[in-house]
Amino acid sequence: MHHSIRELRKFIAPEIIFGTSSRTLAGQYCKNFHAKKALVVSDPGVIQTGWTDEVIESLLDAGINYRLFSNVSPNPREHEVMAGTSIYLEEKCDSIVAVGGGSPMDCAKGIGIVAANNGHILDYKGIDQISNPLPPLIFIPTTAGTSADVSQFAIIADTKELVKIAIVSKIIIPDVALIDPETTATMDQYLTACTGMDALVHAIEAFVSKASSPLTDVHALEAIRILSSNLPEVKLNPHSMEARKNIMFGSMEAGLAFSNSILGAVHAMSHSLGGFLDLPHGECNSMLLEHVINFNFNSHPNRFSVIAQNMAIDTRGMTTEEIRKKIFDEIKSLKKFLGITNTLKDTGVKTSDIPVLAQKALEDACLVTNPRSARKRDIEVIYEEAM
Ligand SMILES: [Fe+2]
Repeated sequence: MHHSIRELRKFIAPEIIFGTSSRTLAGQYCKNFHAKKALVVSDPGVIQTGWTDEVIESLLDAGINYRLFSNVSPNPREHEVMAGTSIYLEEKCDSIVAVGGGSPMDCAKGIGIVAANNGHILDYKGIDQISNPLPPLIFIPTTAGTSADVSQFAIIADTKELVKIAIVSKIIIPDVALIDPETTATMDQYLTACTGMDALVHAIEAFVSKASSPLTDVHALEAIRILSSNLPEVKLNPHSMEARKNIMFGSMEAGLAFSNSILGAVHAMSHSLGGFLDLPHGECNSMLLEHVINFNFNSHPNRFSVIAQNMAIDTRGMTTEEIRKKIFDEIKSLKKFLGITNTLKDTGVKTSDIPVLAQKALEDACLVTNPRSARKRDIEVIYEEAM
């Protein structure tokens, strides 16, 4: 993959405030947007940690009224988005503050889309299907992985079709991301591992994406470097704020990369899987990652060698084939070290499910930018290898 300077590429990002206590600026930012009443979107788990209350306090301090909406599942569903929108409209809110991981943040984007465009959330599936701008979105992520706070993606579960749909549009990039590493201290080890692996997948898929460019490469490579060294570190020292800050920063870098270069087959296949079995997104990605790399490797061996070097693999003297094998083994051992050991079979996937999963993955927007084009049979084989 050679990037010519003549290729047109764009790069979009929200205003980002990164650092300890940035969460307390939510009220100030609402005020900057002349907001009077914010819909605070969170979930029961995050509310329990106390972060949502702190953000609400900052709204009240700034004289902003609020209404809390927390009926959000781990994989946010279309009817939750519609219910949240009804509340937003009934309560005459004029801004949305999301506090939490990918689920409340994606649900908040969905609410913003429907509140500004009417219709049903599933109408906006795919790329650039939204016309009206959203109300101000102020996002405070509490996991280091999804990067919904900086991205132009929202993933919503379609409970009728049992699939997760991807909505991609620059209109849904939040106005402000208040990225506060302290909020990740309440994640347990497994959530830290799964969300961290999600971030690593974002960076790898962004770097080999057909839409990658020098504008995104710099962020993708920095993310791979930071995440591959700090994920083991945070497993060994879960209370190290330094390691948590690094992972939050790496996740943000990965988010800036993938939001602008889109993703690939891991995410297409993982969305299909996650909708089918209601599994955590990061776990789905982790189960597929090395198998998709194996499939993609020969399309861009040089790019994968650069990925290996940023994972601190000494590639000197190695053949291309040795590098492929080394990346495969490194990812397997990283997952094992982090405690992500399930295979598809362990999570209840049956061989007979694979054709349906593959068909849904083929229809996912993320497959478009995968570096190697994949037919249904290719996708089926990758799922089979991950069993
Ligand atoms: Fe992801």
